Amino acid sequence: MSVPLDLPELSADEADHSAELVARVREVITKAGGWIDFAQFMQLALYSPGLGYYSAGARKFGAAGDFITAPEVAPVFSRCLAVQCAEVLRHLGAPDACILELGAGSGVMAAELLAELERQGTVPAEYLILDLSADLRERQRATLKQAVPHLLNRVRWLDSLPEESFAGLVIANEVLDALTVQRFAIRQGEVNALGVSDEFGRLVLAEVRGGERLVAAVRQIERDTGLKLPDGYESEVCLGLSPWLGAIGASLERGVMLFVDYGLPRREYYSPERTRGTLLCHFRHRFHEDALTRVGLQDITAWVDFTAVAAAAEDAGFDVSGYTTQAHFLIGAGLGDFVANVEGLDLVRRLNLSRQAMVLTLPGEMGERFKVIALSRDYDAPLRGFATRDLRHTL
Ligand SMILES: C[S@@+](CC[C@H](N)C(=O)[O-])C[C@H]1O[C@@H](n2cnc3c(N)ncnc32)[C@H](O)[C@@H]1O
Repeated sequence: MSVPLDLPELSADEADHSAELVARVREVITKAGGWIDFAQFMQLALYSPGLGYYSAGARKFGAAGDFITAPEVAPVFSRCLAVQCAEVLRHLGAPDACILELGAGSGVMAAELLAELERQGTVPAEYLILDLSADLRERQRATLKQAVPHLLNRVRWLDSLPEESFAGLVIANEVLDALTVQRFAIRQGEVNALGVSDEFGRLVLAEVRGGERLVAAVRQIERDTGLKLPDGYESEVCLGLSPWLGAIGASLERGVMLFVDYGLPRREYYSPERTRGTLLCHFRHRFHEDALTRVGLQDITAWVDFTAVAAAAEDAGFDVSGYTTQAHFLIGAGLGDFVANVEGLDLVRRLNLSRQAMVLTLPGEMGERFKVIALSRDYDAPLRGFATRDLRHTL
């Protein structure tokens, strides 16, 4: 994929904001001796206090932002997810069961989910939200206050993972893709780390010989796929995934974690044809590969290696109890019923609902690119979202 050069122009304020963040990144590079790895750059670009993409006031989600996520496209996405959560809550039968949502964005999924759980008679004891972005907390509160004011007292925002483990669910939509990744390149059989350095005041990509952890991770990928990655091959790997998932898993004593994201099993992720990896930047609904432009003003993401998620979960003491496409998950969780049950909706709303269902499920839209993985601990009941198609064998 080439970098489009026709990205929308920046306002003077936006240009200043980005320049300030670039100056901060340059300081960090200087202190580090002239080079930082890509994960560190991504952390700074997305989460630098007051300046990073997720820490400053950018609009981000929705038509007026940079990208649209499934809960923003269609409330029915969150309603189906609620059906799956209700099934788990009922089976757990614990009056103090909670839901922990990671990375709640604008809060729209939490609002729809709570409303549907209420309709199903399964509102959790608490709905916890943990988001790296403090800036989004007020937006989430406003969304919830408007949509479900009477349930706001069940919602609690956390600054860190709960100290006491709980029974219930952990859910996250499009959060795994926001975890920082290391980029690598194969050069004459060796693994180089692709990072960032400062060339006369300009951020540039620069390579150094890969460190021990990166080299071990790439060699593991080669063993798992049975392929020797060819010279010139570039991709990325999320070294922080396993400790991150382990820490989250430690909060869940009993129940299910559900992660929805765009991604692939390892064999497809690191296929020899995918020679430039999956890193993408999102700026006002354009996507491109240049992470060093629009710093602080654009999202930077990478696809999820779901085989790595499954392995990290197993290391953390979880079973992989489901893996399927978003389309099959939503159908299993009752999307058809929601679309068919249109009593009381006028024609325009009915058409809208059908259109939204198509965006969520068609292969060329979000249906196959997005996957859902269920990771369970001390929970052995079937999960209806995974009943129509089981893709665990592909992991
Ligand atoms: C692409 S947005 C998705 C937002 C929302 N879930 C949705 O679907 O619209 C990623 C969200 O994850 C949050 N995030 C990223 N890394 C996180 C982490 N390690 N823990 C918690 N939240 C995180 C970001 O602040 C942001 O709210």
